[in-house]
Amino acid sequence: MKQSELVDLLGRMTLREKIGQLVQLDGGCFGTDAVAVGPRAKLGVTQEDVDVCGSVLNVLGAEEVHRIQDAYLERSRLKIPLVFMADVIYGYQTCYPIPLGLGATWDPELIREDYNLIAEEAVADGCMVTFSPPVDVVRDARWGRCLEMPGEDPYLSSRFARAMVEGFKGDGTPQKSLASCVKHFAGYGAPEAGREYNTVDMSEWRLRNEYLPPYRAAVEAGCDLVMTSFNTIDGIPATANRWLMHDVLRDEWGFDGPIITDYAAIDELRAHGVAANRREAAKLAMNATVDIDMKTPCYAHELEALIETGEVSLEQIDTACMRVLELKNRLGLFEDPYRTCSPERRTEVTCTPERLESARKTCDEALVLLKNEGGLLPLTTGGNAPCVALIGPYANSRDIIGMWAIHADKTHSVTLAEAFAEVLGDDGFAWAQGCPTLDDYSELGEFGKIPAFGAPTGEGADLETMAAEALELAASSDVVVMALGEHMLQSGEGGARTDITIPAPQKRLLKRVRALGKPVVLVLFNGRPLSLTDVIDDCDAIVEAWFPGTAGGRSVADVLFGTVNPSGRLTVSFPHNVGQEPLYYAQFSTGRPAKTSTHSGRFVSRYMDCPNDAMFPFGYGLSYHTARYDNLRLSADELTADGVLEVSIDVTNEGDIAGTEVVQLYIHDKVATRVRPMLELRDFARVELAPRERRTVTFILREEALRFWTPEHGWASEPGAFEVMAGPNSRDLLVGEFELV
Ligand code: GLC
Repeated sequence: MKQSELVDLLGRMTLREKIGQLVQLDGGCFGTDAVAVGPRAKLGVTQEDVDVCGSVLNVLGAEEVHRIQDAYLERSRLKIPLVFMADVIYGYQTCYPIPLGLGATWDPELIREDYNLIAEEAVADGCMVTFSPPVDVVRDARWGRCLEMPGEDPYLSSRFARAMVEGFKGDGTPQKSLASCVKHFAGYGAPEAGREYNTVDMSEWRLRNEYLPPYRAAVEAGCDLVMTSFNTIDGIPATANRWLMHDVLRDEWGFDGPIITDYAAIDELRAHGVAANRREAAKLAMNATVDIDMKTPCYAHELEALIETGEVSLEQIDTACMRVLELKNRLGLFEDPYRTCSPERRTEVTCTPERLESARKTCDEALVLLKNEGGLLPLTTGGNAPCVALIGPYANSRDIIGMWAIHADKTHSVTLAEAFAEVLGDDGFAWAQGCPTLDDYSELGEFGKIPAFGAPTGEGADLETMAAEALELAASSDVVVMALGEHMLQSGEGGARTDITIPAPQKRLLKRVRALGKPVVLVLFNGRPLSLTDVIDDCDAIVEAWFPGTAGGRSVADVLFGTVNPSGRLTVSFPHNVGQEPLYYAQFSTGRPAKTSTHSGRFVSRYMDCPNDAMFPFGYGLSYHTARYDNLRLSADELTADGVLEVSIDVTNEGDIAGTEVVQLYIHDKVATRVRPMLELRDFARVELAPRERRTVTFILREEALRFWTPEHGWASEPGAFEVMAGPNSRDLLVGEFELV
């Protein structure tokens, strides 16, 4: 439809129809009458509200989309199609590793390709907009939603935000292009104490330098919507925060697409205590230029009265409504209300071998080797293969797709045991669960009783028998692979924890296995950085598998048996102790830096009972080859505002197998008008090296990479001395110096 036709359409809409476009209801409201009465009544909406609403939340399935769209258009006066939106976060039916794992690939190009495959699979089954990518910077491992984010660094997260939005968008052809919605704007990853939905409070200096960049990268990459976050910023909930939504997002960044709230967030303005009633809540959100009310009746039932009193203008409604109509027009819905989805199309593209292979390749790059004492890994296969015991709740589990894979088909998940059998043969290993995931599942609440969310199996099993079976298996083996980790509901939304260690029954089993004196490989399944202090000495090798997705079992086997030389590198810091949280590598010096202060030992920035640093730092990961980094050199010792500085470093694969290095480049602004982090990531390169190959990696540094935000000057660099560092992670770095002049 041409723009002029959209304007004409808007002119023919009644006020109620315009407001309707600003309302998003869940699929329950669109059921057949008998079914829908309950959800509608619970939400407080009527059939009339349903008949004019603009979009549908989390309904998928081509058949259901067709049914709802047909029934809706049948009743629609102006035949304006619904738009169907859902959470397709890191996969649809084919599930990739959780974004913490995707980040660990340090391979945005690969993720861009993956996200286009995800788009095609989701579009085929009726998804038109995905509430993804989530790119909240995360620095507190207590927060459950670390799972969904690329990591703790704004630069790296910005690279992934761009790749994910462009991946979803693809070449724009309807069947392979999904509208994206960056979230959660803004700063949702910094709740006090890591507690879900808790207060966020930080200076504008920190917000702009460390938390806003990934959202801006998504906007610049062309994301179609922005979702408001549940938290406050500067004492005002984001959903009511005009400065954030209008002044920054729209005026400064030029975003003119729809802003949609998070789930029920307008109504929650009452709970926040900034709105006395739904009418005030609707007014605050509309005046913050929020366009779509997700799953509350506030806009549907309060806006007309606000217009009558002049507290909200008709122009505001027209502007918001036009944003929604333009989104629908960009999606081609006026020409094809189903947007090519069909059961046949779904069958054609879902969980194809190409997709499953893509998920496996990505997962191969996502796994992080954290420890490999004595080169225990890779395990040999074939004639002289050791007898392997595979033990733990994740030994043969399909619950390896993470909490937000709500549309994934778990039956496609390849378990560790199945993958081991493919490599070793059924007789080449044996597995045993050994213990339940948790001692007490009640902490998981009602969700924990749902099979799709990992409800416990084998209720009432004799735990000592389970353990004895596993211990007997371990005693008769040459090496034990322990598949342990968090329950899938211990991370994700609502998954904040104060204890970020491996659950107790699993630790007890690990200790008993260790007491047998066998070599132990620990494979971790988790949705956050863990504290591994109480298990690190019980394992000779540790592989971080995250929630690895549909192909997870095969990827873990690929790494354990050496088909793949691991290249994953952490994008979040793993603490010694939860007491260190929030923990991140880009720390500021403080006036009393622990390692260099002139003050006496006690009176420096330190803990009495724990190191300051991470146990496993940002950028860290091992491989089966060893690499040497040397000969860091700069093309000059000065950089001008319009110049370039070449920073080169030599990397040598000292091993006898091919491998990949993730060469990382950091800067440090030594003196500035505001404190600057001791190091900040500014570039990286994945480098594939043949055995014994030496390669020079050169980065190009420009003045804009040195800029930071201040209230006085906005984004600007400041002349002076800089350090530039390069190496395999944020700790083992070679350092050079230059002047910005
Ligand atoms: C949830 C999440 C958000 C999701 C939305 C719709 O509460 O915060 O990430 O997109 O609701 O399901």
